[in-house]
Amino acid sequence: MPVTILAIESSCDDTSAAVIRDGYVLSNLIAGQEVHRSYGGVVPELASRAHQANIVPVIDEALKRSGTGISDISAVAFTRGPGLLGSLLVGASFAKGFALSLGIPLIEVNHLHAHVLAHFIKIKGREDNVPLFPFLCLLVSGGHTRIVLMKSYLDMEVLGNTIDDAAGEAFDKCGKLMGFPYPAGPVIDRQASEGNSKAFKFAKPSVKGLDFSFSGLKTSFLYFLRDRLKEDTDFIEKNKADLCASLQYTIVDILTVKLVKASLETGIKQIGIAGGVSANSGLREAVRAEAEKRGWALFIPAVDFTTDNAAMIGITGYYKYLRGEFAGQDITPLARL
Ligand code: KG4
Ligand code: ZN
Repeated sequence: MPVTILAIESSCDDTSAAVIRDGYVLSNLIAGQEVHRSYGGVVPELASRAHQANIVPVIDEALKRSGTGISDISAVAFTRGPGLLGSLLVGASFAKGFALSLGIPLIEVNHLHAHVLAHFIKIKGREDNVPLFPFLCLLVSGGHTRIVLMKSYLDMEVLGNTIDDAAGEAFDKCGKLMGFPYPAGPVIDRQASEGNSKAFKFAKPSVKGLDFSFSGLKTSFLYFLRDRLKEDTDFIEKNKADLCASLQYTIVDILTVKLVKASLETGIKQIGIAGGVSANSGLREAVRAEAEKRGWALFIPAVDFTTDNAAMIGITGYYKYLRGEFAGQDITPLARL
C-alpha cells in the first residue's frame, strides 16, 4: 500500500497544502498573503484571517491536482510550530478535524525540522541525490538561523543558533530601512546582482562558537544610512545596488564562516542549506565555492522548497508515519518549540 500524506503548513503568512506519496510530491500549493506588504512585516491578526479564508480552497486544489481521492489519504500532517499562534491554529484545527472525520492518523511536524528534511523530497530519476547521515544543515529563514546536525531523519541536534535576529530578519529589516516592501530578501538579492559588494563595509559580529548575531549589523546599517542621508537625501536611491550588494555580502559572509567552522569541527562534509534565505543567490554562490574548495557534498534545495511550503511538512510527515509517530486529538500548536 502506498503511503499518501496530506500536508498543511500555516505557520506564518503562507497557506500551503501538499500531497506526498511515498516521498514524491504529487501537488504543492502555496497561497501567499499580499496584505502584509505595505506593513513592512507580517501582521499576525491579518495572517490568521487570511489563513481562514485560504485553507479550504488551497487544500481542495492540492487534492484535485494530485489526482488523489480523500479515501487514498493515509495520514494528515500539519505544522505544530514554531510560528504565529493564530496562524498555526488554523492549520492544526483543520488537520485535526480532517483526521477525526476520516479516522486516519494525525502527525505533528516541527517547521524547522521540515525545512531541513526538504532535502529528502524524492525527485524521479534523482533518488540518490540526497544527503547521507550525519549531515550538517544551515537553516536560514525569516525567524530562525541555525546550524543543525542530522543524525537520521528524525534525530536533529542544534549546534548553533542566533542570539538575536535571524538572517532573514536582517534582510527584511535593512530592506525596510531602504524603503523596500516586505519581504525584502528577494528584492535585495535582485538589486545586489547589479552592485559592488565591496562598496560599503558594515559591522560583523564576534560571537562565540557556532552561534550567530545580526542585530549589530542592523544597527550599523541604520546609523550608516542616517549619516549618509544627512549629507545627501538621495543617498539610498543613488546607491541602492551597492548598498544591497554590500549588505548581502556581509550577511552571507557571517553565515558561511560559521558553516565552514561547523564542518571543520565535526569533520562532516555532507552539507546543506535550507529555509527561505537559502534561495539567496549570493549564499548559494558562496557555499558552492566553499564546497569546491573543501570537497563537500553540497545540497541546495529547489527554490520551491526553500521558502515555506507544505511539501516539506509532507516529507517529514512521511518519515514520522513510517516510524509510527502519531499525535492525539489533544495536541495544541506551539508558537515556540
Ligand atoms: O523560510 P521562510 O519562507 O519563512 C520562515 O520560516 O521564516 O523564510 C522567509 C525569509 C524572509 O525573511 C525572506 O526575506 C527571506 O526568507 N528570503 C530571502 C530570499 N528569498 C526569501 N532572503 C534573501 N534572498 C532571497 N532570495
Ligand atoms: Zn519557514
